[in-house]
Amino acid sequence: MNGTIHFTDVSFGFSTRPVLRNTTFRVSQGSRAVLSGPSGSGKSTVLNLIAGYLTPSSGEIAAPGRVSYVFQDDTLFSKLTSVENVSFALAESGLTQRQTRYRAEAALGAMGVEHLGSEQVVLLSGGERQRVRLAQSLVADPDVLLLDEPTSALDPATAAAVMHAIDAAFTATLIVVSHDPHLADNLIDPELFTLSGLEVIHAA
Ligand SMILES: Nc1ncnc2c1ncn2[C@@H]1O[C@H](COP(=O)(O)OP(=O)(O)O)[C@@H](O)[C@H]1O
Ligand SMILES: [Mg+2]
Repeated sequence: MNGTIHFTDVSFGFSTRPVLRNTTFRVSQGSRAVLSGPSGSGKSTVLNLIAGYLTPSSGEIAAPGRVSYVFQDDTLFSKLTSVENVSFALAESGLTQRQTRYRAEAALGAMGVEHLGSEQVVLLSGGERQRVRLAQSLVADPDVLLLDEPTSALDPATAAAVMHAIDAAFTATLIVVSHDPHLADNLIDPELFTLSGLEVIHAA
C-alpha cells in the first residue's frame, strides 16, 4: 500500500469563515510530517479532512490505505486495563482472543509500557496513558497515522520520550500536528509544514 498523502488545491471553511484556501501539500509514504501553526490556524481541520470527517468545498485529498487518528483528548476507557483498551482497536480484525491479546501486548511493548498491560488506565500517569493511546493507534498496523497535539498534556522530557517511541515503533506515514516548536526535534528526518494565513508553507 502506498501511503503517500496528496492534499491538492483544497479549500474549506466553516459557514462563511474560510480556514483553507487552495492549499496544497504532499506527505510522502513513510515520512514524518510535522504540521505547526498558531491556535485556530486549521491544523485539526487538516487532519479531519484527511481522515474524511470533513469534506473540502473544492480540491482533492488522497489518503490511501487505512488511517488511524489519535485525537487531542484522551479517549481511553479509564476503568479498563491497558491491554483491554488496546484490544478494542482489533475488535473488527477477526483475530482470536489469544491473538488479540498477543498483538495488544506487542504494541504496548513497542511503546515501552508492556509492564502496564494489566493496569487500569485510570491509575497511569499522563505519559503512560499517552503511550497506551499510541499503542492502540498502531496495533492494527495502519498505513497512515494522524496525531493531534500528542504532547500537549506532557512535560517536555516525557513529550520527547513519547515521540521518540512512536518514531521508532511506527514506520508508515505519520502526520503530527503540534504548536510545540520542539516536537520535530524528537523525530528522525521530519518534513516541516507551517499553516499560516490559509496556506501551508513547506519549511524543509
Ligand atoms: N466545528 C466548527 N464549527 C465552526 N468553526 C470551527 C469548527 N471547528 C473549528 N472551527 C474554526 O476553524 C478554525 C480552525 O480551527 P482548527 O482546525 O481547530 O485550528 P487548530 O487545530 O489549528 O487550532 C478556527 O477559526 C476555529 O474556530
Ligand atoms: Mg487543533
